[in-house]
Amino acid sequence: MYSKIISDIKAKYGSKLAILGHHYQADEIIRHTDLKGDSLELARQIDKLEAEYIVFCGVHFMAESAAIVRKANQKVYIPDPSAGCVMANMAPAELVDTVLTKILEESGRKIIPLAYVNTPAAVKAVCGKHGGSVCTSANAEKMLKWALERGDGVLFLPDKNLALNTADKLGIPENKRLILNIRKKGEKLNVEETLDKQLLIWPGLCAIHQKFKISQIENLRKKYPGAKVVVHPECPPEIVAAADGDGSTSYLIKYVTEAPVGSTIIIGTETNLVNRLAKQFPDKNILPLSVSFCSNMAKITEQKLAELLQNLESAEFEDVSDNIRIPAKVALERMLKVCA
Ligand code: 13P
Ligand code: SF4
Repeated sequence: MYSKIISDIKAKYGSKLAILGHHYQADEIIRHTDLKGDSLELARQIDKLEAEYIVFCGVHFMAESAAIVRKANQKVYIPDPSAGCVMANMAPAELVDTVLTKILEESGRKIIPLAYVNTPAAVKAVCGKHGGSVCTSANAEKMLKWALERGDGVLFLPDKNLALNTADKLGIPENKRLILNIRKKGEKLNVEETLDKQLLIWPGLCAIHQKFKISQIENLRKKYPGAKVVVHPECPPEIVAAADGDGSTSYLIKYVTEAPVGSTIIIGTETNLVNRLAKQFPDKNILPLSVSFCSNMAKITEQKLAELLQNLESAEFEDVSDNIRIPAKVALERMLKVCA
């Protein structure tokens, strides 16, 4: 029933409406999307879209990023604005500002903030104001290198796993990295400890990717000799080290697409994507490392999408106030330019 409502409204709006979906969305949503992708691919598409109405099926920071870079005549909507990202909530803007200011003032060093796209707009704004930028899992290596070249050190936030995995790829020595102690609203932070460090790391993580265990990889490798294991870089470094490859959701899709027929591929990421790949490639054996759903991504349902589309003209759209939107856009555009 909802599917028919959505199709009819899409036909009515034609090119004035674009529905975007992240790869972790359920099939019932993905089948209605005009564009699907990883965070970087979707962010790149926004200013190329001609549609007046952009409906973003994903978590809130994704719709908010779209609202930051949208054109003046466009409106961005999300079917359920309460679909947050737990990791993004681990770095509230006020605390990021307090910690960064304390480090800058007490150390006298030029520290460049680099925010993972999984952050609120206000955090991206802090980065924009301090010469920093944004990265996604698809370009973290390139953007961390960019940030390191611009200062004496980098504050990477909020995902400690992505920070450590990217540091491993760039060969940043372990004694040059520090996971910050930001307990008690930053009061416990000892700036002296940061002085000789290149990479200061916010202690955030994604519970969906933190769950995976080395024993699961070992057991599945025993059960399926010759199987390949690929994971998302939000997984802990020991999981990435035990895998055959890691990368963004689009990397994982490409890996499966290019794998030989008959191969077994074990994937460590959100289960909606793994299940979809298993259905799409019945001639390959695609298995989840273990079942791990993102409950926030799952808040976007076909019913909510249909209800939003039925009331699009009067629905609330994503609006970011200019004092946040303008510096946040600076941070996002730096990334889009570096990774054009
Ligand atoms: P991608 O940018 O790889 O799509 O990942 C976004 C995300 O939230 C992963 O948990
Ligand atoms: Fe956030 Fe993790 Fe869900 Fe991605 S999978 S949206 S990082 S909670």
